[in-house]
Formats: sequence, C-alpha cells, structure tokens
Amino acid sequence: MLYVNFSWESLKLPLDRREDLSGTTTHGAKLTVPTTVGRDSGIEIGLAGATEPPHMTVTIVGAQLGDEGKGALVDRWGEEADTVVRYQGGDNAGHTVVEDGEEYKLSLVPSGCVRGKTGVLGNGCVVNPRTLFDEIESLREQGLDPDVRVAKRAHVIMPYHRVFDQMEEADKEDTDMKVGTTGRGIGPTYEDKAGRRGVRVGDLLDTDVLRSRLEYTVPQKRAIAEDVFGIDTGVEFDVDELVAEYANYGQRLRENDMLVEAGDFLHEQHESGGNLLFEGAQGTSIDIDHGNYPNVTSSNPTAGGAAVGSGVGPGVVGSGEIVGIVKAYLSRVGEGPLPTEMEADEAELADEIREKGGEFGTVTGRPRRIGWLDVPMLRHAARRSSFTGLAVNHVDVLAGLEELKLCHSYELDGETRTTMPATTEEWARCEPNFREFETWSEQDWSAVAAEGYDALPAACRDYLEYLEGELDAPVYAVGVGPDRDQTVERQTPWE
Ligand code: GDP
Ligand code: IMO
Ligand code: MG
Repeated sequence: MLYVNFSWESLKLPLDRREDLSGTTTHGAKLTVPTTVGRDSGIEIGLAGATEPPHMTVTIVGAQLGDEGKGALVDRWGEEADTVVRYQGGDNAGHTVVEDGEEYKLSLVPSGCVRGKTGVLGNGCVVNPRTLFDEIESLREQGLDPDVRVAKRAHVIMPYHRVFDQMEEADKEDTDMKVGTTGRGIGPTYEDKAGRRGVRVGDLLDTDVLRSRLEYTVPQKRAIAEDVFGIDTGVEFDVDELVAEYANYGQRLRENDMLVEAGDFLHEQHESGGNLLFEGAQGTSIDIDHGNYPNVTSSNPTAGGAAVGSGVGPGVVGSGEIVGIVKAYLSRVGEGPLPTEMEADEAELADEIREKGGEFGTVTGRPRRIGWLDVPMLRHAARRSSFTGLAVNHVDVLAGLEELKLCHSYELDGETRTTMPATTEEWARCEPNFREFETWSEQDWSAVAAEGYDALPAACRDYLEYLEGELDAPVYAVGVGPDRDQTVERQTPWE
C-alpha cells in the first residue's frame, strides 16, 4: 500500500477531473481524488493496490573503518544490478568476493565484475591505469572478463603521487600525524585534484594537454621531493617518460572502449530502467570529512559521495536504499585511536579473532587491529549516510567466545556520549561503556544460511536486534562466512 500526503495544489488537477478514486493506480500514474475530500484537509489517502516502485539504486557504505565485508554484499546483491559503480577511492581498497571457494581480490575493478556486470569508476575515483590494467589481467587469468568503464573526469594517480605518499609517511614516521596509508598515492592525487593541478583520465587522450599539465606540475613536485624532503628523484618525475607511458594508457582505454562520460552514461542506464549499485570503498570513520581526521583516507565513502562521485543526482541516490555494512566487531588497519581496541589482557582474544577472521589487510597484508563493536561509531555512520538498512558480517567469527560485549556509549570528561566526538583527540580520550551479551556457539553456518534468519542462535539474533533498535534500520543480511552462499538474507534491498 502506498500512502500519499496530498494537497490540492500539488495535484494540480482541474475540478472536473477530481473523480472518485475507485480504479487501480500504479506508481507514477496521475492521481485523481474524490471531490468530497476538502482543500488542505491534511487527510492521508490510502491508494488500495498501489505498490512501492522497485528501488533502482542501492548504495553500499562501510559503517566503520573499512574491510567490513562490502565486497561480499556487493557481489551478493550484484545479481540484480545492471551496473556497479565505484564512486570514490582507488586501489587502496581491497574487496573480497568468494564464489564457491574461489576467491577474487578486487582493488579498483568494481566487485560486480565477478558476476559479469558492467563496472564504472566514477569521477570521484582516483585511477592508477597501471594497476587497473594489471588487475584486469589477473582477473582474466581467473577466468573473468571484466567490463570496466572509466569516467573521463576521474583523476589519474601518477607515479610521483605514490612517491609523495610514501615519502610523506616516512617523514611523519615518529609523529602522531602518521596515517599508515596504503602507499598507493591516494592522498597526493586528491590533493592535486583540489589544487587544480591534477591529470584527469580525459587528459590522457590528448598528448599536448597531458604534456602541458605535466610540464607545469612535475618540476614543482621534483623540487619539493628533492629540496624539502631530500630524496633522490628518478623516472617517476621524468616528463617525457610519463607522457609516453600515460598517453599509451589513454589509447588503451579508448581502444578498449572503456572511457565514459560517467554521469551521462549512468543517467541513461537509470532512465532506461537499469539498476545501479553503488559500491563504497573504505568506511565512514575514515571519511575525509566525517572520519577521525587526520587518520583518514582522502575521499568520501559516506553516501553523499555516491552522488558527487558518480554524477547521479542525490535525489536518485536518496530515493534508493542505502545499506550500512557492519562488521560484528571492529578491525582497523593503519594508525589512529580505537577506544574499544582489545589490548593487554585481551590481546590473546584479539589474536584469536584476527586468525579466525583472516584480519590481515587485503592490499598491504598488515595485521588488522581488533576491537569490540562500537555503537557510537555506528550511530554516527547511520546518521551521516541515512542508512535504510544494515548488513552485519562476521557473526561466525564471534562464535564460541567466552564473553561478548559491545560499547553502547562513551564517557568523555565526565559526560556520557552516544555518538563520536568531532575531534580525534577527544575520541581517543573516550572511555567505552560496555554492555554484555550472551555468546553463541559454533554452528554449521552454511546450513544456517540456507535455513534463514530464524536458524541463527537466539543470542546472535538478540545482538542483531539490539543494533536494529539503536540504529533504527533493519538488518537485511547477516554474514556467517566469506562465501557468497554464507549470507543469511532476510530481504534484498532491491525488494
Ligand atoms: P571490504 O573491504 O569491506 O570489501 O572487506 P575485505 O574483503 O577487505 O575484508 C573482509 C574479509 O572478510 C574478506 O576476507 C571476506 O572474504 C571476509 N568476509 C566477508 N564477510 C564475512 C563473514 O560474514 N564471515 C567471515 N568469516 N568472513 C567474511
Ligand atoms: P576497503 O575498501 C581499510 C586506510 C589506510 C590508512 C588510511 C589512509 O578495503 O574497506 P590511504 O591509502 O587511503 O591514503 O590510507 O585509510 N584504508 C583502509 N582501511 N579498508 C580500506 O579499504 C582502506 N583504504 C584505506 O590503512 O589508515
Ligand atoms: Mg577491504
């Protein structure tokens, strides 16, 4: 049943068309209403038989610090998508898809490519053509044929960006400014984008434009690297070499029909009834605006980024579903506070969870730090992205624990806080208030996934339902293992 709050003005119907509403109506059909309902009555009219239209966009957003299992859900829900769109980040992401035991690691190629869907790298992404072509090649070796389109407006990660990333991290080594980046040149590329000195994918098609961009930028970069940071620069700062290599990537992108005006491409897909799935990378707490700055990445994983970073309007993104992906505990790769981190007397437990959950960075192989679930962090995420639903992963990893708890609020300077404070220094001083939960035992998780939500242990359902209540969003899916089939699905966001 679709209910409509109407006013006569919004209907703009001539009086003689306001007939009795007795027939059927479908979404998008002109409404006619009984003339007996008065002007400005505020009466809610129920349209019998009318149904919600199918959601044509689903946006997947990491609710925590990245690595929540976004790739697994994009793959799962990618079945009903026509196009899967990355809207931010670059090859710093590491998304895992497991199909019948076969594991695919995706960094830049959208995860929907495992199912043969078209993948788009939107204007909000930063694209390293070297690693993109390598990744496509290695996916081909695994038997896939990725159809990847790249926005001409996306910025290009150049070799000197990687040098800058690593050089600056080395310089910050002994300071609390160190981020622990993936070293992929992400931050320096976004810096150049904002500084209006970047190279865009579209620039690779015109050697003169490419050369003139590089002739302006590269000497500055070289001077900073040599004179400020005192490093010896190499081929990464050689304009002729860069022009030759990158113009060649431009040609390959064109010859392979991979270049798109992404906003228009996606608009047409959407207008013609195609389902768009937006694949967020990273997570809310490492968002450049809403994360714990400066220990963040340099883009916006939050749902607003899906509109800005794809060229699809916020009305379209917002009219669909926005699903927050939650790991049932916390993991963090890289520097920064983690108030619920398992340390000291809980270090053994952290090791156990790390081993069981395979908590080692997909991109860098670094061991991930482990913490208890942080609900203030999740409230922050749900509000920043308007989550309409949740997927909670890794509940299998928590099975068999002796104790289980989550942080429901923080104590900060004598005050109880239910959301994350804005400064990272304050967040670091937050003391978690924990709430204990019943534990659950090991299960045959594949059987549980096949049977459905009610087959989950009752204690596990209590934990999930607590989250639903706190975040005011239903749990659509529960991850009980890495494989595509190891997801308990209550409903798909396309329904
Ligand atoms: P992403 O970056 O959010 O896509 O997540 P990653 O792929 O970096 O990390 C998630 C890891 O957990 C991967 O190895 C997944 O295969 C795995 N995974 C995803 N969901 C589950 C789950 O519910 N249970 C378990 N045990 N592993 C999962
Ligand atoms: P997915 O998409 C987890 C972290 C890095 C570092 C910070 C900045 O797999 O969830 P960057 O290289 O982006 O400048 O590093 O962000 N980071 C991630 N952590 N998952 C990711 O992606 C991440 N991408 C970047 O470890 O702390
Ligand atoms: Mg990852």
